[in-house]
Amino acid sequence: MDLMEQLEKIFSEAQEAVASTGSVAELEQAKARFLGKAGSLTELLKGLGKLSAQERPRAGAAINQAKSRVEALVQSRRDAIVARELDAKLAGEAIDVTLPGRRQGAGGLHPIARVQERVEKLFATMGFSVADGPEIENDFYNFTALRVFPNHPSRSMQDTFYVAGSELVLRTHTSPVQIRYMEAHEPPVRIICPGRVYRVDHDATHSPMFHQVEGLWVDEGISLADLKGTLAQFLRAFFERDDIAIRFRPSYFPFVEPGVEVDMAWPRNESTKPDSPREGGETRYLEIGGAGVVHPDVLRNVKIDPGKYSGFAFGIGLDRLAMLKYGVDDLRLFFENDLKFLGQFR
Ligand code: DAH
Repeated sequence: MDLMEQLEKIFSEAQEAVASTGSVAELEQAKARFLGKAGSLTELLKGLGKLSAQERPRAGAAINQAKSRVEALVQSRRDAIVARELDAKLAGEAIDVTLPGRRQGAGGLHPIARVQERVEKLFATMGFSVADGPEIENDFYNFTALRVFPNHPSRSMQDTFYVAGSELVLRTHTSPVQIRYMEAHEPPVRIICPGRVYRVDHDATHSPMFHQVEGLWVDEGISLADLKGTLAQFLRAFFERDDIAIRFRPSYFPFVEPGVEVDMAWPRNESTKPDSPREGGETRYLEIGGAGVVHPDVLRNVKIDPGKYSGFAFGIGLDRLAMLKYGVDDLRLFFENDLKFLGQFR
């Protein structure tokens, strides 16, 4: 085999070897077979010395040309491999732009918090400011100052969370804020106190923690008529309907005299009679809270003269308002924190 044939053979071997490589590392190995220290072309160059001075230049030129061609082969294969690897990498990181986007979920206020804000706003338009008190109360504010005497059922273990070994209770109602506020302020007093309260109770309409809003208006000449007007105006604004009627039922709460339960007229079948609770004899009354004229002894307990001042107080279930407003029939839904439920109130 003369040199030219040998070079052609080596070149076609190189073509085959280079073409079969799949990675840069494999390519380097293939390259070494021809151009490495012991590569076939390198060996041929080493052999040049054995040739005559006459033959040497042509042979050297031919071998160098073969080297260049193999180098070019390797280079183009390297480009192809790198390009393919890049394509594969990009494909692996590809983004499917047709997928729905991932949203930043917007937070929202809890429905009870919304109702509370609305209640505060509406009472503010009637001149009521917002007062606050502790949720861990002592016996005096939660019971005694409100004339809730030791034999009253709300004091029983079945109703109340007592803090073991102390005079403290988780407040069972927002009424103690009445006492705290009147101790610190002279009449006229016109406040609401929304907040959490606690009782040993758990079913579809009762939860061990729930919310009330207390109201208190003490001034000269405040009567049950003011109570009725205030509550009716509030409820009409809250539910955005003018036909809401309220009914007082005589009841007993130790801190008021007279005391009443406040019922709100509500259509039995809202969908067929959306606008009038009294049409078609389908009225039902829902209890929303208790109220009354502040007992003179309660005023005396906070050093306010009942001969000069009188007032009304009420306590309404905020959760009850929220249930009616949003048509929710199980109170527990509000406190399970299922986002599918809560997300509807955004
Ligand atoms: N505190 C009472 C309760 O939780 C509700 C109540 C009744 C509040 C009459 C009042 C009131 O202010 O006058 O059952």
